Amino acid sequence: MRLRFMAIVLFSVFFQSSFSQTDNAVEKRIQKLIKKMTLKEKVGMLHGNSKFYTEEIKHLGIPEWALSDGPHGVRAEMNRHNWKYTGQTNDSSTCFPPGTAMAASWNLELAKQRGIVLGEEARFRKKDVLLGPGINIIRSPLCGRNFEYLSEDPFLISQLSINYIQALQTKDVAACVKHFVANNQEENRFVVDVNMSERALREIYLPGFKSSIVDAGALGVMGAYNKFRGEYCTENDYLGRTLLRNEFNFKGVYMSDWDAVHSTEKATLAGLDLEMGTEKENYNDWYFADPLIKAVKEGRIKESVVNEKVANILRVMIKTKVLDPQTRITGSLNTKEHQQAAYRSAVESVVLLKNEKKTLPLNMSALKSVAIIGDNATRTHCGGGFSSEIKALYEITPLQAITNKYGKSMQINFAQGYEKQSHVVERSSDGQLNTDKVDWKLIDEAVAQAKKSDIAIVFAGLNHDFDSESFDRLHMRLPYGQETLIQEVAKANPKTIVVIIAGSPLELAGIESRVPALVWGWYGGMEAGNAVVDVLSGKEFPSGKLPFTIPVTLSQSPAHALGAYPGHDLKVNYDEDILVGYRWFDTKEIEPQYPFGYGLSYTSFEISNVVTDKKVYGVNDEITVKFNIKNTGKTNGAEVVQLYAGQTKASVLRPKKELKAFDKIFLAPGEQKTVDLKVKVKDLAFYDEKTSGWKIESGEFILYTATSAKNIMSTLAVTVQ
Ligand code: GLC
Repeated sequence: MRLRFMAIVLFSVFFQSSFSQTDNAVEKRIQKLIKKMTLKEKVGMLHGNSKFYTEEIKHLGIPEWALSDGPHGVRAEMNRHNWKYTGQTNDSSTCFPPGTAMAASWNLELAKQRGIVLGEEARFRKKDVLLGPGINIIRSPLCGRNFEYLSEDPFLISQLSINYIQALQTKDVAACVKHFVANNQEENRFVVDVNMSERALREIYLPGFKSSIVDAGALGVMGAYNKFRGEYCTENDYLGRTLLRNEFNFKGVYMSDWDAVHSTEKATLAGLDLEMGTEKENYNDWYFADPLIKAVKEGRIKESVVNEKVANILRVMIKTKVLDPQTRITGSLNTKEHQQAAYRSAVESVVLLKNEKKTLPLNMSALKSVAIIGDNATRTHCGGGFSSEIKALYEITPLQAITNKYGKSMQINFAQGYEKQSHVVERSSDGQLNTDKVDWKLIDEAVAQAKKSDIAIVFAGLNHDFDSESFDRLHMRLPYGQETLIQEVAKANPKTIVVIIAGSPLELAGIESRVPALVWGWYGGMEAGNAVVDVLSGKEFPSGKLPFTIPVTLSQSPAHALGAYPGHDLKVNYDEDILVGYRWFDTKEIEPQYPFGYGLSYTSFEISNVVTDKKVYGVNDEITVKFNIKNTGKTNGAEVVQLYAGQTKASVLRPKKELKAFDKIFLAPGEQKTVDLKVKVKDLAFYDEKTSGWKIESGEFILYTATSAKNIMSTLAVTVQ
């Protein structure tokens, strides 16, 4: 026994030393390189020399550093010095469903898979940094970039981001988690000054970034455009030094968003490493170019501060083998496996919102005719959204999918139903929003097709004229008169199914009650059509859960209920504080259209015997909630069981409950499993502004085992001592 113990001790000492040795070796290598650099060469690494590259240092074997968007696919090649695509034909790539769709799967394995595939494709395209994931909190339903982000809940964001980043970085590609911090609206995004309590920052807006950096080891962080408490994020000492460098011990690269730098000295001293995208013709005029050299020469900036930045970049380069190309992963592009991963992601994102009278799944062999209606039946979406847009190798639309799969066995009657009326949401002379005009000619055609078909499927929702970077939506209604279309089609054919293709919340009250089945299909990426048709046909089953609350109306949403969006005079105060998303709806007891975490299945599940391992816990304990879950239906399915926790009597206002754990459990008919969900007692703490620290108060906590924020299967009281 002793011998074994000695062996373990020896191994761990060796391992520790070899581990720290590699770290030391890396640091030694960095210092050696820096010693050989001129100041000009150092500074040349701290700013772009084109849209997406930084300068090489040939004599030191340091190549240009290649950065590329985006979070759900490797973006097509841009010209070096303008925002146009090169138009080359070898830069198509795999396009995954964007952020909120990934989150809707609640499947951490799929987040990993996505990281692996994007890493492979980034490497094949010779990219060193992938500018994602985008993880800003979905605060307002109107934010144009919600589709690209993940959720309203920091825990769900953290779990997805950790798995995506860790996987991506195993492929010698650096992730760059963005946008640090509180870039939660596109309205005035370049200048809006975001203000919030320290508690809201710590409990809601920071956790995703902290997990990505501390738990996942993200090698890059992108500073947001907006101001935070009065100072631009990229020159904000609290963000760049206190939080990023000191608290998170971040040793990677802190880069700016494109054209988000506003100073030389302030940004340099606030911890920013890399200036990208500045809109100045001559790269030498950029803040981190000649002005920085000048600042060093005039003694306003110590050269050691420049060295620290170069060291951060070299550290990431070394960790991703940029300096050791011979051993680096070469990657792969547009493989069948990659496309299959995109398909799986799309399938598992589909959320079944309503399914009365077993309308779904459709019995395709019994159907003789189907009306396929709506602009989103034929519209492709991969190529939209601005910086996260992807030139997908292909994109299957719902109409193509249903035609490919069932065109021979049934009559497919297509009708446009509604159409995209304008790229920019303009107001017509009478102040009406253009997109609210109803096109009765198109509706009549659609009604005619619906009348003569066994069933009608309306592919409705939004597109990247609304879900897009650089502007927010003006309202939450279905644009282009879709509500009227759906009401008319449903009158013509009671068997009307609506599939919403969109990336952010919409008002659904006007259609929900008119149709027997309602499905949220998201922007499903390149395999969108195949995925959603396979779920409708029952070849696959719906297992998605909403990653955000869908309010009945915009005014229910906290930021809007409090008039705290988009702010006044370029300043926005997050008055809802920690009550974001379901935290608000729960605590204010407001009934949303559909709650966070909601999604139905084609089968049914029974959750029973929910127990905790103890009744009383110490602050360093971990709580285990154990339960049985059985598939009591006739078809395969997966249930996402969510564990929320709420403190019964707290000294401060706390949300009724907060998500602390979840698991997605796949079960065949009749199959049952015993599942454990774990939460550390310390994770039940709240951020105490009085002591500027996390505080866990003794007393009763309620553990909610649920299948949505509203559908609670069990509540268990435990005591924290
Ligand atoms: C954009 C976006 C950012 C993107 C960058 C490069 O403006 O805010 O997410 O990665 O610029 O395209």
